[in-house]
Amino acid sequence: MTKTNQLHEFVEVMHHQHVHLHTSMCSILRMLTERRGPPGHLADRMLLFAQQVEEHFRGEEEPGGFFQQALSRDPRFAHRVNQLRTGHQGLRSEVGRLIEMAHVEPRDAAWWDRLEKECHRFSSDLSRHEFEETALIQEMYSDDIGVED
Ligand SMILES: [Fe+2]
Repeated sequence: MTKTNQLHEFVEVMHHQHVHLHTSMCSILRMLTERRGPPGHLADRMLLFAQQVEEHFRGEEEPGGFFQQALSRDPRFAHRVNQLRTGHQGLRSEVGRLIEMAHVEPRDAAWWDRLEKECHRFSSDLSRHEFEETALIQEMYSDDIGVED
């Protein structure tokens, strides 16, 4: 397998995970918009989503993960990788706050409104972060075009 193929496979996995997170977030947002289901069920779904986010972040941060791969391809990516690492910390705090919020009582109309607004905010922040990651992946990938194959 060429380096380009390995990278292509890596891009596919990252993309798949981003789609998976986005799908989970969308189904939570839909439940919030429709004020659907028992609030306890929603809180459980959010907890599951938080676990998926954490798993995804850890995969990117661990040795051999996305960040290390980016740095080993070109040390000039260091600043952007650091920004993305910092971004993970911010998003972790945000998702933690969402989980706390989901468990607050009473679960009245104001609770639904607040949670919906905050989930939309988190969704935008996560999308922006993933957009930056995708841009970096594309640069890693475009460096290879024309070099191999
Ligand atoms: Fe990501």
